[in-house]
Parts: sequence; structure tokens; C-alpha cells
Amino acid sequence: MVNFSKYVFNSFPPIFKYLMFLLLSFFLYLLTNEWSNAWPSNPLLLPKLTPHLNVSNSDSDQEESTKPVDVSTGLDLEIQYDFPPFLRLYKSGRVERLLGTALVPSSAFATPKVLCKDVIIDEKTGLAARLYMPNFTHIDSPTINKKKLSILIYVHGGAFVVESAFSPTYQRYLTKLVSKGRLLVVSVNYRLAPENTLPTAYDDTWQAVKWVVQNAKSGPEKFLSQHGDLNRIFMAGDSAGGNIAHNTVMRAGKEGLHKYNNGMRIKGLVLMNPYFWGKEPLKDEKRDKETIQRLESTWGFVCGWKYNINHPFVNPLSLRDKWKKLGCERVLVTISEYDLFRPRGKAYVEGLRESGWNGLVEVYETKGENHVYFLWKPNEEKAEKEMEMVISFLNRP
Ligand SMILES: *[C@@H]1O[C@H](CO)[C@@H](O)[C@H](O)[C@H]1NC(C)=O
Repeated sequence: MVNFSKYVFNSFPPIFKYLMFLLLSFFLYLLTNEWSNAWPSNPLLLPKLTPHLNVSNSDSDQEESTKPVDVSTGLDLEIQYDFPPFLRLYKSGRVERLLGTALVPSSAFATPKVLCKDVIIDEKTGLAARLYMPNFTHIDSPTINKKKLSILIYVHGGAFVVESAFSPTYQRYLTKLVSKGRLLVVSVNYRLAPENTLPTAYDDTWQAVKWVVQNAKSGPEKFLSQHGDLNRIFMAGDSAGGNIAHNTVMRAGKEGLHKYNNGMRIKGLVLMNPYFWGKEPLKDEKRDKETIQRLESTWGFVCGWKYNINHPFVNPLSLRDKWKKLGCERVLVTISEYDLFRPRGKAYVEGLRESGWNGLVEVYETKGENHVYFLWKPNEEKAEKEMEMVISFLNRP
């Protein structure tokens, strides 16, 4: 057998042997670590790379980001994509989150006024949510209030890449919201990019909405079946969560949530300092070249370069007459004076008014503050006023 192969090999012309040698070298090259370093930094390759990424959801973020860098292979020394201040994606496929990775149990920031617990919505994908409701035995003791509660489906922010429904930031904010307003909150722990690029976050949130409707109707989740008012479902989100909340309510209008909910619709939408962008500058928008490039690139990164910067997912102004199908009755948009996204928030309100949509839209502005300031200092006066505004919007008949 050996002699036979040797015979066959020797009978090949020299050029052919040379080509075989080249091919063999190439395969050896592929087998070494060099291959990983040879990934071109073409962003279009990212979706192909994602199956190799080893973080599947934010529960493992902390562990992942503190994993020591593997110096022996040098793979983590080269950055595939830098997204300051949020994360770095290395050519090895490792995702290093630089902030928004801390997680706290549902008992954190406990107050006897609020009950809080976690639920899994989908075992397969790990989609989960944190539920909050007033502790009736505490606040209404001894008489138990039978009136059902508005259901607020909350979508956290974090540029689609960091933060969690289980982070201390949202635990603190939503505990406070529920202790002040009589409502039930479902905080959605959708999957993050770049491991799961858009539309995963949109799909997860839509799945959470259907789960809420199902459970408010007939359980088994008792918070919802015993206390949730199916006629009063609201959605809210800040920053990227505002973007997701808007797109979810668009979907509710298009696909018809009423099919799942006996004709009921989402009652209202609250967009707090929402993240939107677009190709055409708005008149009061501060846009330098660096900002434009950064915003377009990072949007591409979070959606795996599937949608351009004028896609209706990121630029509702390009929705035109589709906007009038927004699936709720009223909208509140909050903006902050120094927020880069402030002009987009204002344009959202004007655009929705002009779209022919049959509902009420209003805007609430906070002076002298930056993007999502209310999350970092919820106990300061301006943040408390904004929260009161949100609660009164949710509690209106
Ligand atoms: C709910 O309120 C009751 C009565 O004040 C209290 O005993 C109980 O510990 C509270 N539950 C929680 C989870 O704080």
C-alpha cells in the first residue's frame, strides 16, 4: 500500500507535487491558532462567528467577563470589534462586557411594600422575566383590595448589548416604581447582542407580551392571573429598551395582539429617552462625523449588519403611513435636555401625530439632564418628578 502510494506520487508531474505541498501547508495553517487571528475584520463575518461565541445569556456575563485572558494562544489580544464604553468582542469570539454586568437576586432592595420574583418564559432560549407587584397584605391590611392592576411590560436599556432585568440598576428603579404606583411590572430579560443580534431582542419581547396575555387570562402565573388587568397592558422602556418597546407595539398593531387577547390591545406606550437614529440629520441634532460613524457602526454591530440606519426598526420617521398602525391608544415620550437622542424623541412625537395614528401622544422634557439620568439617581427631585409623570400616565382611566 505504502509502495503503491509512493509509486503514484512519484509519477505526478513536479508542478502537481508543488501544488499539493501548497495545499497541505494551507491546511496546516488552518489547523493552527493562526487561523483565528486571520479573521478579517470585515463586520459581515460577525453573524458567521456568532455560533462560536460562548456566552449565551447575561446570567453568565459576570463569570465570562472575569475569565482570565488566555495568553498562551494570544487570541484575546486582538479586538474584532470595540464598542466603548460597553464591550469588546475579541477575535477569539470572547465577549468582554465592561459595564452593566452585575446581577442581584429578586430579594435585593427589598421593601415590605413590593413583592418580587423571577420566572422563566422559555426554557429553550432562557428567556426570563422579573415580576413586581404591590404587597397587598402590607399596604391594604386588613382589607384586601380586589381591584386589578395595570400590567407594565418593561424593557431595559443598555445599547442592546449590556444590562439585564436582574441588574441592580433596574431592580432599584422598578422596585421604586411599583412602591409608588399601584401596578404590576414584568421586566423582560431579552437576549443581548452580539451573541444574539437583532431581531432576537424584538422576538423575545414579543414572546414575553404573548406570555403575559396568556398568563393574565388563565395562569399558571398567579401574580398575573389574580391581579393583572388584561384591559390595561402597557409597555415601557428606556434608551434601547424604548426602541424595543416601540417596535413591539408596532408588531402588536401589525400582527394584531387582539388575536391573542380577545380583541384587547396594548393600552399605552412609554418611551423614556428612547434610542432612535437615521440617515438624515434633524434640525436641532448635533452631528459630527465621529458621532455619525459611531452610531451607524454600532447599530450595524447590534443587528449583525442586517438593517441599515434608515430601517424603520431604528428610524420610525421612515415608517410613514405604517406608523398609524401603532398598536396602542396613547404614548408618552420623555426626553432629557443634554441627551444626544433628544431631537429624535421630539421628532417621534411630531411624526406620530402627523402619521394619521388615532391616539394621544405627549412629550415630557427634563432640563439640565443627560441620557437616562433617572436610572443613576432615582431619588433626586427631577427623577422623582419624571417617575410621577410616568405613574400618572399609567393610572389614567
Ligand atoms: C408583605 O407584608 C406583610 C405585612 O406587612 C409582611 O409580613 C411581609 O413580610 C411582606 N412581604 C414581603 C415579601 O416583604
